[in-house]
Amino acid sequence: MTQNENTDIRLHPAYRLVALDSVTSTMEEARKRAEDGAEDGTLIWAREQTAGRGRMGRTWASPRGNLYFTLILRPDCAPAQAAQLGFIAALALGEAIGSVAPPLDVTYKWPNDVLLSNRKAAGILLESHALADGHLDYLLLGCGVNVGTFPKDAAFPATSLRYEGTPATVTEVELLEAFSRFFLSWVNRWLEDGFARARTAWLDHAAFRGERIEARLPKETINGIFKDLDEDGHLLLELEGGEERRIAAGEIFPPG
Ligand code: BTN
Repeated sequence: MTQNENTDIRLHPAYRLVALDSVTSTMEEARKRAEDGAEDGTLIWAREQTAGRGRMGRTWASPRGNLYFTLILRPDCAPAQAAQLGFIAALALGEAIGSVAPPLDVTYKWPNDVLLSNRKAAGILLESHALADGHLDYLLLGCGVNVGTFPKDAAFPATSLRYEGTPATVTEVELLEAFSRFFLSWVNRWLEDGFARARTAWLDHAAFRGERIEARLPKETINGIFKDLDEDGHLLLELEGGEERRIAAGEIFPPG
């Protein structure tokens, strides 16, 4: 891991930026710092990752030119509520992308992906650590955005901002600054009024809502209609025959 000394990034004082050049994964850097007591709002950003991690144990291709960061958060909430921050981060990423790029078709794929023209441009990895008494100690919110390049062999078809027409002058730094502003404003709304507004905003642009989908869960794959998102960020799926399933973890795809 090498420290980057010459980075001019403007973030709100609520964030403490740790700018790095090359790391294995910003999740690992963030975990070490969180265990050492790093404050809420510490943001670990790296130009490249040599062992970037995605959801479901996958790798996250992390060459230079894309955006990789992990935010350390210590919200005063129950671990179950912390999942709401994944949706808030997705909204902030979507709005950040919309603010730096020409008009793009931004949608959100459950749980926390950002799609451009129905292809994945950004993903979010949440990892939390609870104290012995069950309270949340810290939440690691890892975000990866395909700014310049994207993998051709992803589980869900991928894209990048550049591929979707964003000029090469738009950098990952500009995107990080925009994310930091939108995220802070969503978090403040969340702290004041709860999850309702973010949930509505997310649902208004949710991919596959009302459509038949395939849900790949840790132990099974099921099909049904994507009906709703509950207060805990669970997906409500209506199975054939009308039975409703509440899904906490998994991924969704168009029916195979
Ligand atoms: C997904 O599978 O959609 C989640 C991808 C999360 C990738 C980001 S990049 C920054 C942070 N460091 C990692 O190793 N992973 C997350």
